[in-house]
Amino acid sequence: MSPQPRAEKVLRNIGQLLTMDPAAGGPGDAARDPTAGLGLVLDAAVAMAGDRIVWVGREKDLKGQVDTEGATVEDMGGRVVLPGLVECHTHTLFAGSRAQEFARRVGGASYEEILAAGGGIHSTVIATRQATLDTLVALGKERLDTFLSFGVTTVEIKSGYGLNLEDELKLLRAAAELAQQHPVDVVPTCLGAHVMPAEHKKQRQVYIDMLCAELLPAVAEEGLARFCDVFVDSGAFSVKEAETILRRGLELGMKPKMHAEQITRSGAIALALELGAVSVDHLEKVTEEDARALADSKTVAVLLPGATYFLGRTDFAPGRMLADAGCKLAISTDFNPGSCHSENLPLMLNMACLYNGIYPREALLGATRWAAAALDLDNEIGSLTPGRLADLLILDTRDFRNLIYHFGVPMTHQVYKRGKTVWAQP
Ligand code: NIG
Ligand code: FE
Repeated sequence: MSPQPRAEKVLRNIGQLLTMDPAAGGPGDAARDPTAGLGLVLDAAVAMAGDRIVWVGREKDLKGQVDTEGATVEDMGGRVVLPGLVECHTHTLFAGSRAQEFARRVGGASYEEILAAGGGIHSTVIATRQATLDTLVALGKERLDTFLSFGVTTVEIKSGYGLNLEDELKLLRAAAELAQQHPVDVVPTCLGAHVMPAEHKKQRQVYIDMLCAELLPAVAEEGLARFCDVFVDSGAFSVKEAETILRRGLELGMKPKMHAEQITRSGAIALALELGAVSVDHLEKVTEEDARALADSKTVAVLLPGATYFLGRTDFAPGRMLADAGCKLAISTDFNPGSCHSENLPLMLNMACLYNGIYPREALLGATRWAAAALDLDNEIGSLTPGRLADLLILDTRDFRNLIYHFGVPMTHQVYKRGKTVWAQP
């Protein structure tokens, strides 16, 4: 018999524990079971030591299975506990505001029109280039605090508002600084290929050559990004351009991600799969053929309903079709100043149910287990099993369904990151 794990801290009196244990199920589980795949344990306890989980289960089994001598015990008051939420797609580091653009869009101007006329992302690029690294870190801190207040314990952050060597590096260095300073874990992605910078519009290859010959090698050299992302769309980069950039990223050790099939269909999914992308994100224009290919791969399909919503569009990604095809679905905010200015990930889960057509249990898995997989971190985070990080969200409710059903309101009671309380309800 293996020795009992030793606990340093025990959370007891958990009314509903959602472990999201991969052993509890996979895509395509019985649609009618509202808890399939969630690893639901009633009257549960969680034991941790250092920054890791050492045991989860029914509280009545704790004493016989875990050495709790000397452990501190916290009473969860019958509340819900689930893994800290994982944000797998954000543009958290930027300066300036697009509130004026929002008003223009409400007045009838389209996102594409504003972008083509040099506004949109370009206006954020101007403001971000003017900002110092310290300013960006300070802005980033405030935003990570907001994410944390919604129970998010890991945030992917993309560069992409610098669009030259110096300012892209500044953004990724700010992300590295934030990772040091903030309890939320930051996962950095290089999105030098967000859009073509205004000054290179007429000589696209010059910018792509700079990305491949200078930026990506510098990013790799300093270890500033885990992933390389490209926005593939008619107003951004072509599939062919994306291939050059993502292959270069791969050579340098950065796994591919892709903004794909958002506004105009490009057929980019085939390339993403050929390159083994960890995720393809947006997907409003995805086809059934794409879905079948995705389901057969390890690539996670990331839904960003907040972006469709905030752009005032109705062409939400076909989440139901993707789920029925057997795709692994993650949900994220896409937090950015132009197309989704909100850090409220639980609100996105509500939208994913109503507008992408996925079931609440699929949405919950999409902000935990599959979001972790979209960051290639599913062995560390996104589910609560022995050995994984003790990142926990404690909800101020006894019914886990309220996280999605009671939409738009704060529901966080307490957050643990790596075994320590980092947020508590004021
Ligand atoms: O993910 N799709 C491209 N980029 C962002 C929008 C960024 C912006 O408008 O500033 C997105 O939606
Ligand atoms: Fe995005």
